[in-house]
Amino acid sequence: MSAPPAARLTTNLTVDTSPIVLTPAAGTDLDDVWRAVVPESRARSNDVHLPMSLAYAERLCAVHPRADARLVRVATLLHDTGWGRVDEERILSEGFTGDWRKAEIRYEHERQGCLVAREVLPPLGYAPEFVDRVTAIIDGHDTRPYSLSLEDSLVRDADRLWRFDYAGIALAAGWFRLDPATYADRLETEILPELLTEAAHTLAVAHLARSRALLKTDVLR
Ligand SMILES: [Fe+2]
Ligand SMILES: [Fe+2]
Repeated sequence: MSAPPAARLTTNLTVDTSPIVLTPAAGTDLDDVWRAVVPESRARSNDVHLPMSLAYAERLCAVHPRADARLVRVATLLHDTGWGRVDEERILSEGFTGDWRKAEIRYEHERQGCLVAREVLPPLGYAPEFVDRVTAIIDGHDTRPYSLSLEDSLVRDADRLWRFDYAGIALAAGWFRLDPATYADRLETEILPELLTEAAHTLAVAHLARSRALLKTDVLR
């Protein structure tokens, strides 16, 4: 579990808080990476989680120009592909119950995600030192209680932000067997405080308010 940040990282630039569906991840430069991980995208709704998280990652990079955007984007795209290499049954039985953040399967999906990155990226022309930087972020993205760098922080925030959109609430509420209103409450009390950047916090608040209104969570509880 991430420790709440002492102070969120700020920026002088203003983050776009419009619905994420309005700005899908731009460009086609990562299409070859996407194609290489199609099988891994089928696990645990990665084919929704990863493209949405990449769209959020690009919004965060836009207001943090000092960050290496290519590193943030590739690490975000690949961070959860390891779920495609672990036993599907264990994802539900161990990954979302009890002390799920410390479940062994969490460490396993991080290790497997690093292996996926090392398999997929070099043949596509990514340099060894770039691959090392990607795997440093993937390794521990859910279990390491601190961020290693600005890029790591942006990946961590993008990984959480998708849940504040109504599509994220719909999927994740089902994983945890919660109703959308209860899950939205949990986002507010548990996930929102963990965000590391002010831009992500602003984005999350705007998206959660819209999702709550759309899903009528004030009365459907
Ligand atoms: Fe993960
Ligand atoms: Fe994730």
